[in-house]
Amino acid sequence: MTAVKTAVFPVAGMGTRTLPATKAIPKELLTIVDKPVLQLAVEEARAGGIERFVFVTSGIKTAIATHFRRDIALEKKLEAKNKMDILDAVKGAAIPEGDLLFVEQHEALGLGHAVWCARHAVGNQPFAVLLPDDAIQGESSIKEMLAHHTDPKQQSIAVMEVPLEDTKKYGVLDVETDDGKVATAKGMVEKPDPSVAPSRLAVVGRYILPPEIFHPLNEKKLGAGNEIQLTDAIDAIKGECPIRGIRFSGRRFDCGSKKGFVEANVAYGMADPEVRPVIENLLKTLG
Ligand code: UTP
Repeated sequence: MTAVKTAVFPVAGMGTRTLPATKAIPKELLTIVDKPVLQLAVEEARAGGIERFVFVTSGIKTAIATHFRRDIALEKKLEAKNKMDILDAVKGAAIPEGDLLFVEQHEALGLGHAVWCARHAVGNQPFAVLLPDDAIQGESSIKEMLAHHTDPKQQSIAVMEVPLEDTKKYGVLDVETDDGKVATAKGMVEKPDPSVAPSRLAVVGRYILPPEIFHPLNEKKLGAGNEIQLTDAIDAIKGECPIRGIRFSGRRFDCGSKKGFVEANVAYGMADPEVRPVIENLLKTLG
C-alpha cells in the first residue's frame, strides 16, 4: 500500500446543471441533510488517512473557505449557550491550520486544468482527487482504493458497474482483466454509445494519481468539449503508469444533478435516526 496524504478537491466549476440554486452559492456547499456535499468528501478523505486538503477554487467561492476554517467567536458563543452538540459539529467540520490549502483556477478550462493548478501544492508524490459532486455513502472509497494501490506509479480510478444503456453518461474502462474487485485497463473511453462500450465499468469521481500526471497536463491540450480533460492525461501516461479500476462498496449519488441530489438527501436522511421517521411519515401522507 502506498502512503497518500494529500487530496485535491476541484471546486472551481461553473455548476450550470444546478442553476438557479447555485447562482450565489457554490454547488459544493449545497447540503445533504445537514452537511455540505464538500464536507462529505472531506470526511471520506480523512477516513482514508488524508491529512492535506487542497481546494482548487475560483475567486467567487470564498464561502468554501469560511465553512472549513475555525470560527472562534462562533465557538465561544455556542459554548456560552451550552450548545455542545452543535459546537462539536461545527468544530468537526473545520480543517486544522496549515492542512488546508487553496489554489486558484482563474478560468474553468476543465477538470484536467483544475488538477494541474494544484501541482505545486501536491509536489512529487501520489495524491488523491475527489470530485465532491459524487457523494459516496458507506465505507470511505478512498480507503478502499488505497488498499489496492500497491504501486506508487499506478493510476487508481473508482469504478462501478452501470447498465449498458447508461455507458453514454460516463467515462468507461477498456478492461483487460477483472477479478471482480480490481480491473486492469488498456484505457478509457469517454461516454461511449452502448453499441461500442468496451465494458460496463464506469468511472466515478475518485482517483489516486502519480505526479507523472502533471507532464501531459503541462501541455494544456484541449480535448472533448474544448476542455483540458483529466481522462486524456490519464490515457497519455498509461504506458508507465498502469490504470486500475477499483470497485467500492458504498452507494454513489451524483449530487451535481437534480435527481441525484434529491436521492442523496433521502438516503442520508434515512440513515439519520432523527430524520428517518420524518421521511417515512411524509411518504405515507404524500403517497
Ligand atoms: P463538472 O463536470 O460537474 O462541471 O465538474 P461543472 O462546471 O462543475 O458543472 P456543470 O456541468 O456546469 O453543471 C466536475 C468537478 O470538477 C470541478 C467542478 O467544480 C466539479 O467539482 N471543475 C470542473 C473545476 O474545478 N474546474 C473546471 O474547469 C471544471
